[in-house]
Formats: sequence, C-alpha cells, structure tokens
Amino acid sequence: MKKLIIIASVLISITVACKSKKAATSTASTDSSMDAQLTAINVRFPNTTMEELKKGHSIYTGACTKCHGTKDVTVYTESRLLEIVDVMALKAKLTAEEKQSLIKFAVGVRATSK
Ligand code: HEC
Repeated sequence: MKKLIIIASVLISITVACKSKKAATSTASTDSSMDAQLTAINVRFPNTTMEELKKGHSIYTGACTKCHGTKDVTVYTESRLLEIVDVMALKAKLTAEEKQSLIKFAVGVRATSK
C-alpha cells in the first residue's frame, strides 16, 4: 500500500512537472522532485547531470508518447525495464545518447518509487 502511494506521488510529480514546464512558470516543484531522482541516479550512474536527467524526462514525455501515453516504468524489474527500453528506443528512433538519458531518467524514477 505504501509502495502504491509512493508510485502515485511520483506519477503526480511527473505530471505536475510537465504542466509547470508547459506553463513556463516556476520550476521549483520540478527541481525538488528531480533532485531526489538525480541523487538516486547517481548511485547507479555516477556523474549524471541535472541537464541529462531533464533531457531523459523530455524524451519520456515526448518521443516516448507518440504511440501510447507515458508508461509506468516503476512496475518492472530494472533488467526487464532495460529490455523494454531497448525495443522502445528503436521504435522512438532515439540516438544512442538520447537512449542513455532516457535510461538514466527511467532508472532514477524507478529507484525513487520504492
Ligand atoms: C512507434 C510506436 C512506439 C513508440 C515511439 C514507443 N512505444 Fe512503447 N510500446 C509500443 C507498443 C505498440 C507497445 C505494446 C502495446 C502497449 O503496451 O501499449 C508498447 C509498450 C510499451 C511498454 C510496456 C511494455 C511491457 O511489456 O509491459 C513500455 C514500458 C513502453 N512501451 C515504453 C516506451 C518508452 C520508454 C518509449 C520511448 C523510448 C516508447 N515506449 C516509445 C509502441 C511504441
């Protein structure tokens, strides 16, 4: 149950982050949730920058939503998630660099959802 609440709050913060980005208002809420993700990502992928994380986020909410909505990346094991991203990156025609940013973002969201 606790896990569900945390997953929901991560999804809400992603939604809020997207909305505030579109409205071009304060980025404070984006930055605070992304700070936690950046910390989590750096455990797994050291030296990831906020810029890279934001790039991953915009791919996730952009190129990755061409065929379906934003998929919940927290419901898979990390290895399953990476397999799916391998297939989806081809579908979305991501460059190797874009794919890497997306992986970091997705793994960070997954890590902060537990
Ligand atoms: C060219 C169309 C297309 C693009 C672009 C695309 N997907 Fe998909 N995706 C699909 C289809 C088709 C499915 C399978 C049907 C479904 O679950 O909606 C799918 C399924 C998924 C699933 C569920 C897989 C499972 O086995 O449970 C995830 C997660 C996912 N996509 C993530 C992404 C991500 C992340 C991106 C961006 C890199 C992306 N998709 C881009 C077409 C696409």
